[in-house]
Amino acid sequence: MSETADWYTRFATLEAHGQSAIYEEWAHGVAADPALLELIEQLPRLRRQPNLIFGVSRFLGAPVGPYGPWRDWTVAHWTSVYNDALVRLTQTNEARRCAVLLAALARIPGPLALLEVGASAGLCLFPDRYSYRFGDGELLHPLDGPSAVLLECDSSGPIIERMPRVAWRAGIDLNPLDVNSAEDSRWLETLVWPEQAERRARLLAAMDIVRADPPLLVRGDATDALAELAAQAPADATLVVMTSGTLVYLVRAERDRFASAVGALGARWVSLEAAGLFPALADQVVAARGPQLDGKFALSLDDDVLALAGPHGQFLDWL
Ligand SMILES: C[S@@+](CC[C@H](N)C(=O)[O-])C[C@H]1O[C@@H](n2cnc3c(N)ncnc32)[C@H](O)[C@@H]1O
Repeated sequence: MSETADWYTRFATLEAHGQSAIYEEWAHGVAADPALLELIEQLPRLRRQPNLIFGVSRFLGAPVGPYGPWRDWTVAHWTSVYNDALVRLTQTNEARRCAVLLAALARIPGPLALLEVGASAGLCLFPDRYSYRFGDGELLHPLDGPSAVLLECDSSGPIIERMPRVAWRAGIDLNPLDVNSAEDSRWLETLVWPEQAERRARLLAAMDIVRADPPLLVRGDATDALAELAAQAPADATLVVMTSGTLVYLVRAERDRFASAVGALGARWVSLEAAGLFPALADQVVAARGPQLDGKFALSLDDDVLALAGPHGQFLDWL
């Protein structure tokens, strides 16, 4: 099996299974389709990502249903799919991750200056503007009352009772998305998998909240743009660098350079990333839960893993 076929098979079984029957069928279909694999392999390796190809094809109008018609459309429109896949990034912005991030933010003395690296459209920069329910606990609302967005998160341990006070929010992204742009909003919507109506509704409602008060988003690289943006944070707030679902896009040496840059700022660092990404954090997870990480994310504050978490903020499994 080619590397690309193997990638699509793994995507089908490990990521799409149970989340999107359509993407699962498409990914298995691609893995067994030498002609389409050959087209996909014209793209640079990182651009052959199933989520990117599927998203771009849907964005351009591919029929969302059985494999055959989708496949025929994609082959017929390959030049457009190819060109779009070269320039777009998978920038899924999931507000529900705030439920997990909040568990770490609530431990940091405020007010907070939030600087998110890999912010996409900045939906995770508004943890104080959403309502929450952890497990079957009480609702936690923003200071000025209930939000139009309720984020629910199963939790094995401490329930978060304190809403952080956010004094400043800003983000860095290679390609910041603007919730006030119709095209960017539609791309964000397309990145939600076909059957995930609840995620789509949450995304639309969260985008409305962010539209009313768009954050400062800077175009740049995670590490190179960090110090200059951090220097703009108010001195009387605690600077918190946040990363969620982003550092996987950096190769190992870049990740280490990024970690050093955060250290040099003297900032707190809240990270929600794949549990195996940083060896020192992965060791803590393995020591507590064994080597089977099953695609879970780790929530960490500075050098300590606090909990395992669902990649999209579905649950907190406190260590
Ligand atoms: C999967 S999205 C996650 C967005 C958001 N953090 C969330 O959790 O919803 C990852 C984001 O990281 C950005 N990104 C990837 N590599 C980057 C880099 N080297 N520097 C800055 N941003 C980067 C992508 O453009 C994308 O918007």
